[in-house]
Amino acid sequence: TARERQQLKEVTDLAAEHFRALLWQDEGRAARAYLATRGVSEETAQAFGLGWAAQSWSLLADKLTRAGMVEWGVKAGLAQRRQNADGYYDFFRSRLMVPIRAPEGRPIAFGGRLVGAEEGPKYLNSKESRLYNKSETLYGMDQARDEIRRRKSAILVEGYFDCIGLHQVGVRHAVALCSTALTPGHLQLLHRGEARELVLLLDGDQAGLNAVERLAGPLLAAGASTRVALLPQGDDPDTFARREGMEGVERLLQGAQPLTAHLFSSVLPEGGRASFEEKMAAIERLRPMAAQIPMGLVRSAFLNAVGAHFSLPVGDLEGALRPKAPPKP
Ligand code: CTP
Ligand code: MN
Ligand code: MN
Ligand code: MN
Ligand code: MN
Repeated sequence: TARERQQLKEVTDLAAEHFRALLWQDEGRAARAYLATRGVSEETAQAFGLGWAAQSWSLLADKLTRAGMVEWGVKAGLAQRRQNADGYYDFFRSRLMVPIRAPEGRPIAFGGRLVGAEEGPKYLNSKESRLYNKSETLYGMDQARDEIRRRKSAILVEGYFDCIGLHQVGVRHAVALCSTALTPGHLQLLHRGEARELVLLLDGDQAGLNAVERLAGPLLAAGASTRVALLPQGDDPDTFARREGMEGVERLLQGAQPLTAHLFSSVLPEGGRASFEEKMAAIERLRPMAAQIPMGLVRSAFLNAVGAHFSLPVGDLEGALRPKAPPKP
């Protein structure tokens, strides 16, 4: 309901301001030192509204309790009720806090990164709520919106700090998916932002390459104009940007290959000269992506391109690249 959304907004605003303020106080010294080692400037930290969740078990929860809002804090995933005692404790502790904001700039959720040698998962993220829908949110959209509109292009990266690191060197049209599946909702958001083209800039590791294949289905299905930029092994956009600066990133973006060309050369580098076995294996790798493209012009054009790269008759590819029928019971 409208009231529920309003309360969630208030509690999320309050938490964002709480975390932000802590980062710049004594309490946030270690987190500021951590940001410095990552090359994140004070200006960048302010622009992205970064914050610090204290080591304390209930600093935020107590504040929310005093404000009469702690139950909303629970709904927003910021606090949890104690099991064996009265009261509430904080969900995020000892973490560098990254507010996830709506395109208009309002915080709607958080990612919290572990700092130093603490135990636990590297990132904790807010659960979804009436305010925060992962499948319609891209991290950094609030900061990237103007530059996306200006360039008519967006860069899609994996993580919070990839977006922040690119922004800091002046590459300001990057948004991050933050390990959720790419949905039509995300593509609509980019489309509304007037991105006519998307450049995938994923981590330079096997996971990053696999991610291209995972993203390809929805992108091809939507007929989105997409290119793929490849980072050196071991880099992610954040480390690359810090070392190579804006010029390095722009060079990489200029060399980005169209998505289909990238896919074809990664599943079948030898093209038509490949062996029968290689071709059949490559067809199997393309199938999960091809299966998502609905009948129509995009699908025909895709099958034609496969035929040309594989030197296989296009007429036979339609059948070969259909979704596999589920096994008979
Ligand atoms: N992620 C997550 N939970 C994890 C690991 C990753 O939600 N346990 C998400 C985060 O949004 C993260 C993104 O996936 O930013 C990319 O993950 P990864 O490449 O492992 O992390 P980096 O962003 O490179 O993290 P950092 O540079 O802070 O080490
Ligand atoms: Mn990674
Ligand atoms: Mn990183
Ligand atoms: Mn990474
Ligand atoms: Mn061969």
